[in-house]
Parts: sequence; C-alpha cells; structure tokens
Amino acid sequence: MVASEASPFVKSGGLGDVLGALPAALARRGDEVAVVVPRYRIAMVSGAQRVWSALPVTVGPHRFVTGIDQVIRDGVRYFFIDCPPLYDRAGLYNESGFDYPDNHIRFALLSRAALEISRHIFRADVFHGHDWQAGLLAPYLQVEIARDPTFFGAKYVQTIHNLGYQGNFDPRVLPDLGIDPGWYYPEGLEFHGRLSFLKAGIVWADAVTTVSPTYAREVQTPEFGFGFDGLLRSRAYKLTGILNGVDYTEWDPATDRFLPAHYSAQDLSGKQICKQALLSTLGLPQDPDRPVIGIVTRFAHQKGMDFVGEISPQLSGADVALAVLGSGDRGIEDMFRYLAYLHPQQYGVLIGYDNVLAHLIEAGADMFLMPSRYEPSGLSQMYSLRYGTVPIVRATGGLEDTVDGTTGFKYHGYSAGALLDATRGALLAFRDPESWQARMRRGMAKDFSWDASAAQYQALYAAVRS
Ligand code: ADP
Ligand code: GLC
Repeated sequence: MVASEASPFVKSGGLGDVLGALPAALARRGDEVAVVVPRYRIAMVSGAQRVWSALPVTVGPHRFVTGIDQVIRDGVRYFFIDCPPLYDRAGLYNESGFDYPDNHIRFALLSRAALEISRHIFRADVFHGHDWQAGLLAPYLQVEIARDPTFFGAKYVQTIHNLGYQGNFDPRVLPDLGIDPGWYYPEGLEFHGRLSFLKAGIVWADAVTTVSPTYAREVQTPEFGFGFDGLLRSRAYKLTGILNGVDYTEWDPATDRFLPAHYSAQDLSGKQICKQALLSTLGLPQDPDRPVIGIVTRFAHQKGMDFVGEISPQLSGADVALAVLGSGDRGIEDMFRYLAYLHPQQYGVLIGYDNVLAHLIEAGADMFLMPSRYEPSGLSQMYSLRYGTVPIVRATGGLEDTVDGTTGFKYHGYSAGALLDATRGALLAFRDPESWQARMRRGMAKDFSWDASAAQYQALYAAVRS
C-alpha cells in the first residue's frame, strides 16, 4: 500500500485511520502487507529500524538518495521514506494555508520509492494506492512492467478516499516527473488542461474503489463527481465501494486508554464520568442533564460547518451545549471562536488537533453532529455509534450506509433548515431517557469491524490477479 498518512505514525484525518487498520486486518487474514509512507518531520516513528541506508530513487531528472526505515506493527511492515529535502518540513501537505509548491515531486517520489522497495526489499503482487498522492504509481508501473521482470503481472488498485482532492498540477511539470508527454491527453493524464495525479491512478488502475457503496454511486453524478463523474461512469465496470471499518482496539469505550472511565452497553455509568470530564476540559457548566452535541472534524468545506453557524441563533435559545474540536478553514475557526466568546456557557471550543480530546468528545457527548455536504465514508459516526453518542448526520456517502433512523438522526436536505429540524428532533427525543438509551444501545451493538471490509479487498485483489 502506498499512502500519505498512516495512524498512529502520522494522521490528519480518516485516511490515516484506514492505513493504520486495514493492513493489519489483511495480515490477520493471511496477506503479506507493507505500507509505504513519507517520513515527515512530525511522523512519530521512534524505534524504527533502518533497513536500507541509501536507496537511490529518481523522479524524472531528479535523483534522491533515500533511507528506508521500517516499523513492524500488527504483522505489517511500514516503510518510511527518509528524504529530508522533501519531507523534513513543518506540515504534511501545506504550511500557513499554502500547498508546498513541489508537492508533485514529493508524492511522485513516494510512488517511485514504492517501486524501488518492491524491486529490492518487498516484492508486491498488488500495489494499492490511496488518494491522489499515490496516483502516479499507476502509469509508472505500466512503464516498469514493460522493462523489468520484477513487475511482471503486478496489478494496481486505486482507492478514492475523497474526490475533492485530485492532485492537479500545471502540465509544465511533466518533464520534472519523467512522464512521457504522449500520456498527457484527455483520456490519459489530462484533466481540463491540468495534469491530474488522481486521474492517472483511475485511468491506469486495474480496479478503482471508493470507501462506501453509496459514495461509489454518488461520484458518478455531476453533483458529487468534481468533474470526474464522466470518467468514473466510463470506468464503472472497475469501480466498487467498500465501506471503511473501525479499529475497535483504538475506538471502544470499554477499553479506550484515553478515557477517565470505561463503559459498555451493559453498564453505561462510566459515560457520565466522561461527560463530566469533557465539560470541565472545555470549561462548560456541569449540568449532567443538558445534552451535549460533539463535533470533531477537519474544518473543510466538505464538512458543512457553515450550516452550524447558520443555526446558532436558533440553538442559542435551546437547552444544549456544543463540544467542538477542529481546525482548518480560517473562517470556520473564527466562527467557532466567536460563538464561544458570545455564548461561553454553550460552546466549548478547541481549535487544533488533539487525539485525546477527540476520544473524550466521542465518549462524553450525547450526540455527534456531521452535517457533511459529502462524506466518502466517515469514521467518526461509526465511532459515535460504538460510544453510545447518537449521530445526527446528513444522508450522504458512508453516513447513509452506516446510520439509520433507529440508531441516529439522518436528514436529506442540503440546508441549514434541514439540519435544524434534525437537531431539534434529536433534542426532543433526548428528553425521553428510556427510548434514548434504547437508541444508544442499538448503535453500540453495530459492528463495523475491519474484517468484513478486508475480506472484500482480498476478493478484489484476487479478481485483479486472475
Ligand atoms: P475525514 O477523513 O474526512 O477527516 P473521517 O470521519 O473519516 O473524516 O475521519 C476523521 C478522523 O480524524 C477521526 O479519527 C477523527 O477523530 C479525526 N480528527 C479529525 N479532526 C480532528 C482533530 N481536530 N483532532 C483530533 N482528531 C481529529
Ligand atoms: C476521507 C473522507 C472520509 C473517509 C476517509 C477515510 O478523508 O473524507 O469520509 O472516512 O477519507 O477513507
């Protein structure tokens, strides 16, 4: 597998969670799995073993000498590409809101390094690339297959975690990437006058997946396709949706190491202690009976946080508190700071990234809000279900596939009004403790273990190899 994030080493969102859990689930089912990730400055890879000290990797005319560091975790070999000129920086993809101008080189190198690792350290039958950062591997592999027997029969699977990020660059970088200019055409690498990494991955893949069945259908429509809908319709024969799973060793209130108390469907009492801890952490009044709505998210347009701002005047009259953790879009950050300033008794807000607080919100909140415009899979709602934290979600992508009216509150409209109605419905239902607890328990009983999804990936690998 080739990806730009892998939990617990480096993560900015659900992609990291997937790369932290799916490989191990495959390994448990008998596959040999390796994951190739950049060794960013902030990657936590203490105890890594240097398995290759000076591996030359070329990207077009650029030659890098990389170190390959290995961590073995849950039977999976994680290879970190140590290339300080490209990865020893403050951010993963950007800094102060600006993408690194050499991101095309940084992630082309990732693919090239994966090929070199396959040549020298770990022979892969199937390369599985995640998101645009791995997309160029597909055309690179075509070239290698033609000239090096190492790669005979090797296949490429492209997973789309988020079509909103396509890795589109000025075509003038083509020579920089060592790509034959003949591949730059509308049925190949070109996407409306730009060179698209994700398109490369889709076009040259043996199979394409997205992270939920509903999203696999949605991406074929203009509303969700980000301009790729035609391409994906034409590739529908090789496109499938496989829902993400949950790593219950990390996300289960009965064992979660970040919580002040544990609880389960049989004994919910620990959840109250988590709620108290959450309220005091965020400086909210200790009122055990007042419902708390949790939000943990990247502040990206996709997540619909602007709708939360729109309904805040209506919420200010309601008996409810909000526990908010997130960062990203400056406007949304400022909006929540302002709401916390205006209504300190109602909004507990932390702008930033904080894994421990993310767990505490999942456990301590009563409801969890995801008003996403689109949501390829979404993991947080699946965590919420297990934590007895009733999700309020917009019916899109993986949210549609994992939440129903018996476990959560799901609405269709793409508006603040629809969100408000659903939230009001949830607040009303909360007043009946008995039926609320029954709802919590139905959610907690849901099982989204990785094993079932891993089995589907294995079947797909077998299909592309046959
Ligand atoms: P996405 O991948 O689009 O961000 P997901 O729901 O799939 O959405 O996954 C989000 C993951 O990132 C969850 O594990 C969530 O807890 C975590 N996360 C998001 N924002 C933060 C944050 N500010 N601090 C800590 N964890 C966060
Ligand atoms: C993306 C999507 C999210 C998904 C995650 C992991 O970041 O936004 O819905 O759960 O990838 O696949």
